[in-house]
Amino acid sequence: MNFFDLYHTDNRNEAPIAVFDSGVGGISVLRALLAEMPNENYWYYGDSANAPYGTKSLEEVRRLTVSHVDRFIREGAKAVVVACNTATSAAVRYLRQKYPAVPLIGIEPALKPAVLSKNHPNVVVMATPMTIREEKFHNLMDKYMGMAHIIPLPCPGLMEYIEHGDIHSEELEQFLARLFEPFEKQKLDAVVLGCTHYPFVSRELQKVLGEHVTLFEGGPGTARETKRRIEAAGLGKSSQEKGRVYFDNSEQSDDKRKLCKKLLGINFC
Ligand code: DGL
Repeated sequence: MNFFDLYHTDNRNEAPIAVFDSGVGGISVLRALLAEMPNENYWYYGDSANAPYGTKSLEEVRRLTVSHVDRFIREGAKAVVVACNTATSAAVRYLRQKYPAVPLIGIEPALKPAVLSKNHPNVVVMATPMTIREEKFHNLMDKYMGMAHIIPLPCPGLMEYIEHGDIHSEELEQFLARLFEPFEKQKLDAVVLGCTHYPFVSRELQKVLGEHVTLFEGGPGTARETKRRIEAAGLGKSSQEKGRVYFDNSEQSDDKRKLCKKLLGINFC
């Protein structure tokens, strides 16, 4: 099946925007995209069969990401949103060189708004081990180093809760409490959710951290950037009629599709 068959169109402006993540986390970005551009068509693809990406090698994540994006473009996506911080740091620069004519938007931890939220705040950046290890994150951190106290916090094992549909449980709360055990929570000002899975556990996080800590996610900024890029390329869908969302996953189970729909309907953050 390809995009054009699916949407019965040979008009490029009507073609869907592919939204890709290692699993169900990118739904937090899809949600922001739908708020920004409700009339567009979307193909959401989660690679849950190969998740997690964040504890794999750079080469492996790059290979997987490139092969998925190759397929989206081959099958007619008019734009691609890499709704995964890990895959963005591994492959987006390479993909932009490979496909200069396709709007290709990545995501990065929302460090800038967190740093600007207060005078010299204490900011923790939660992300996968790979995102934190990569050059892209180091460059981002260097940029804001003088304006805040920034503490990177790799969170192996956290995305698995969301991937399995657990966004609210005693066990999850204990996991989050252990992650933040080394911190003096009353001194923290902001926490950046540098993995697209994490916004789904915002409520639990807020319980552990306290209401004085502000959480920041990258989805809304990525959605605004996608809108700008699509408009600049003249690729906006002409009709204002509500678009369609198609859920696809390498783990072809009804349970995954159901989880995606459930997550899309949740009012988090
Ligand atoms: N959702 C992905 C991200 O934004 C990571 C999850 C994973 O480890 O696969 O980084």
